[in-house]
Amino acid sequence: MSDNDSNKKSEQGHGTTGHSWDGIEEWDNPMPRWWLWSFYACIVWAVLYTIAYPAWPLINGATAGVLGWSTRGEVAAEIAAVEEANAAINDRLASAELGSIADDAELGTYAVSAGGAVFRTWCAQCHGSGAAGAKGYPNLLDDDWLWGGDVEAIHTTVSHGIRNEDDDDARYSEMPAFGADEILDGEQIDAVVNYVMSLSTTPPNAEQVAAGAEIFADNCAACHGEDAGGDREQGAPNLSDAIWLYGGDYDTLVETVTYSRYGVMPAWSQRLSEAEIRAVTTYVHQLGGGE
Ligand code: HEC
Ligand code: HEC
Repeated sequence: MSDNDSNKKSEQGHGTTGHSWDGIEEWDNPMPRWWLWSFYACIVWAVLYTIAYPAWPLINGATAGVLGWSTRGEVAAEIAAVEEANAAINDRLASAELGSIADDAELGTYAVSAGGAVFRTWCAQCHGSGAAGAKGYPNLLDDDWLWGGDVEAIHTTVSHGIRNEDDDDARYSEMPAFGADEILDGEQIDAVVNYVMSLSTTPPNAEQVAAGAEIFADNCAACHGEDAGGDREQGAPNLSDAIWLYGGDYDTLVETVTYSRYGVMPAWSQRLSEAEIRAVTTYVHQLGGGE
């Protein structure tokens, strides 16, 4: 198999490895010096690196590294720097007269842009990234307000939330479950739903409207108003404007009147700073429906 000639010498004066494949032999030349030293340098570098920086995996986490550097720490430092840069304007925002924020050019511009960021982080999941809302989550772009659309009202709503259990000052009201609690029977619910529909569209059964109007006056007007125009003190929606929080078709209305609704929004004063709440309040107020 091998016709290896052990006396062969390469240009550098080294013999062969003794391996031979189909007559092809391999010189036993040493690695080039530059390569070898680079290789050793890499090993030394790697050892020093794993001592200096977080590297070796442990059961919980990893070695921290003697320099104390971490990506988390780097982000924290960047956040702290931004917060420090904004500290002065945030202080001004937190202490300014609510109604005057939008009139102050610098403060107003800052509040809207910071508020937009707060909105996208904390509010968009429920109200939509464009604030157009969804079933059960009110549209914040229109003039239709459950609890009020001036800055003070929005500020209160956002700070304390709605029907949550975490904030004693949360906005609160509760519509009775007229069907489930047997306050009204099926026929009466059918009638009052026809009446409610008649206020904004053509009801499926127009003959029921007159009877429904009486049921409405007795059972619903206390909250929704004589003319069904709503009551912001109680967060009771306007039922005559063809804008629906839960839906204005017959089946949805029967469901609403039978089982009632109980929309809940978290209290943000526990999670956001006063400056952030004022920023997002200013942002929501300028979206189009602010009063
Ligand atoms: C977990 C879902 C949820 C999140 C998150 C949320 N909301 Fe709401 N929000 C609601 C619901 C539900 C209502 C309506 C409650 C009701 O039926 O009265 C509401 C109502 C409101 C209202 C009152 C609207 C009106 O017509 O009076 C405002 C203003 C508001 N939200 C702003 C915000 C802001 C600003 C944020 C972010 C800081 C936010 N919401 C985050 C669920 C949410
Ligand atoms: C104690 C006050 C109260 C009474 C009485 C009351 N409601 Fe309501 N109603 C509310 C509140 C508050 C809401 C909003 C619930 C929410 O946002 O989750 C509401 C919501 C509704 C909605 C949903 C509107 C939408 O935009 O989707 C309809 C429909 C409705 N009520 C009809 C009636 C009818 C019909 C009656 C009488 C049979 C009635 N309500 C009696 C307080 C009341």
